[in-house]
Amino acid sequence: MKKIQIITLFPEMFEGVLNSSMMWKAQKEKVVDFRIINLREFGLGPRKQVDDTPYGGGDGMLLMPEPLFSAIKHAQENDSKAKVVLLTPKGERWVQPKAKSWANNGDNYIFVCGRYEGYDERILTLVDKQISIGDYVLTGGELAAMTVIDSIVRLLPGVLGGENSAEIESFSDGKTLEYPQYTRPEVFEGLNVPKVLLSGNHAEIAKWRQKNSKKAK
Ligand code: ADE
Repeated sequence: MKKIQIITLFPEMFEGVLNSSMMWKAQKEKVVDFRIINLREFGLGPRKQVDDTPYGGGDGMLLMPEPLFSAIKHAQENDSKAKVVLLTPKGERWVQPKAKSWANNGDNYIFVCGRYEGYDERILTLVDKQISIGDYVLTGGELAAMTVIDSIVRLLPGVLGGENSAEIESFSDGKTLEYPQYTRPEVFEGLNVPKVLLSGNHAEIAKWRQKNSKKAK
């Protein structure tokens, strides 16, 4: 079972995503175990402070090192070998081959969701990997963590229904987009399903699909 811990100031953001669809199924089938750690609980003082102004001046607040260190250490007490991943727009770009490799490598993960103004740089001493989901800035790492986690969990053995559906799908080779697909009815509002797909000729269907797969930009 893959163990995934998530350190966040907004645990409620994960509820819908982790308890629906494949992620719910994966937990039910004991393929994955999620644990949400509320960073606020590691905040300092009676107000449970987690952020402070940057040295040297500048806008916004930074996540302080103490609460993040305590939360990461706490997660490591649950799982000492887990890899610590920080979601940040400065990280390495998340791509499908990485999802595949992380799904199959047997590692457990601790995802740390930053906030967009930033974090005290010293937390990087506890981080194994920094990951970005794209060249844009989100309010925090939560949506990025959900994206990364979803793309991993659906590839864990026993989660996807179809035998080889993860193999043939879009981007499984990192470059090709999946071919167009159709289901019933054969004609919908005057729009026909391509004839070859109704032919039962598997060789012709495979050829058509190959021809109609697009290269990613
Ligand atoms: N946090 C804010 N923006 C992000 C991004 N693009 N990827 C990962 N984490 C982020």
